[in-house]
Amino acid sequence: MITLLTNIKELLQVRETSVAKVSGAEMAVLPTIKDAYLILENHLIADFGEMKNLPEIKADQIIDATGRIVLPSWCDSHTHIVYAGNREQEFVDRINGLSYEEIANRGGGILNSALKLNAASEEEIYEQSKRRLEEVMHLGTGAVEIKSGYGLTTEGEIKMLRVIKKLAENYPISIKATFLGAHAFPLHYKENKAGYIDEIITKMLPEIAKNKLADYIDVFCETGYFSVEETEKIMAAGIQYGLIPKIHVNQFNSIGGIQAGIHFKALSVDHLEVMNPEDIEALKGTQTMPVALPSCSYFLSIPYTPAREMIKAGLPLALATDFNPGSTPSGNMNFVVATACIKMKMTPEEAINAATINGAYAMGLSETHGSITKGKKANFILTKPISSYYQIPYAFGSNLIESVFLEGKILA
Ligand code: NIG
Ligand code: FE
Repeated sequence: MITLLTNIKELLQVRETSVAKVSGAEMAVLPTIKDAYLILENHLIADFGEMKNLPEIKADQIIDATGRIVLPSWCDSHTHIVYAGNREQEFVDRINGLSYEEIANRGGGILNSALKLNAASEEEIYEQSKRRLEEVMHLGTGAVEIKSGYGLTTEGEIKMLRVIKKLAENYPISIKATFLGAHAFPLHYKENKAGYIDEIITKMLPEIAKNKLADYIDVFCETGYFSVEETEKIMAAGIQYGLIPKIHVNQFNSIGGIQAGIHFKALSVDHLEVMNPEDIEALKGTQTMPVALPSCSYFLSIPYTPAREMIKAGLPLALATDFNPGSTPSGNMNFVVATACIKMKMTPEEAINAATINGAYAMGLSETHGSITKGKKANFILTKPISSYYQIPYAFGSNLIESVFLEGKILA
């Protein structure tokens, strides 16, 4: 099956050869082709170029993209899409003056979601989660990472990871699974933290590894959650079972989690709302991708990741949603890109690079996703007729997507 898109106003993020990630000043450059064609063969990108060089081909399907922009699908490298119920009451409690921390200390927050998760059947959780997955696919996401972390029991964590696996089997979007048993200490382990860490290491990890239920291991390294020492212990155990670390750090406090992640060769360190100069310095020259989650900053009214300082220091940066019931009940990458431009002062080029190629890197998918490159998956967004790609962050809140292609097929 050969599909040809013609007269594309501008084709974004075109890379002749695949690059792993873009850093520092490179992030300001978004390679594009104006008045372009794009050829798909089955589920892959076969060719692209300027319309004036369009080769003679016999296409099974021709799509006239006059006035429209084509860009690779969003790569959302940090989500908690699998959960049960919601936390809308806590949202209203925060409006009425309680803080995220106060709500968590009263047994709300992550523990509230864990109660709901453990009370729900695997089928119910699948049904609720698939609706969110379908929603983000229609919003242009073509690859997504999904975490466990609302079970906090061996059974609950495995249940979540099985749901993630089933979603990956049933949908054309690429999914990576992360084990986040170390998301919070369950109530009955409050006085026995070592006991819970022991359960993670001796019960959860062997079972997850045996059934190949996760690619990555995550820890919420934060004051009141997991200390740097505990985080190191859990990362080391995960590595023993073949999982690569990708961790939550510096959301509220800078306590050394970034340095620990780098030491354990974490693929990414995520959140980074609170960054000191030593944290930025530590990331220089490493293979660890910093990931910012601006929708979380927006929803909780906490600081935004200092993108300008980090890019100025030569670092790469990826953008992701953090879609979860507590701190970010939204999986809209278009909003993330707009918010990064509006609140973090990233340029549209930087934000699009961060949400595509650098997001792919943070999921170990840079060989197949994140750019318009021959041989990569034909996962892309076809916009409505728009004046330029500046519209994507500028017209925040508008849906500019006409259609989404996943593995070469239009998403119905
Ligand atoms: O990434 N920070 C830790 N975990 C999630 C939120 C968890 C929750 O509130 O349910 C996050 O923001
Ligand atoms: Fe998160």
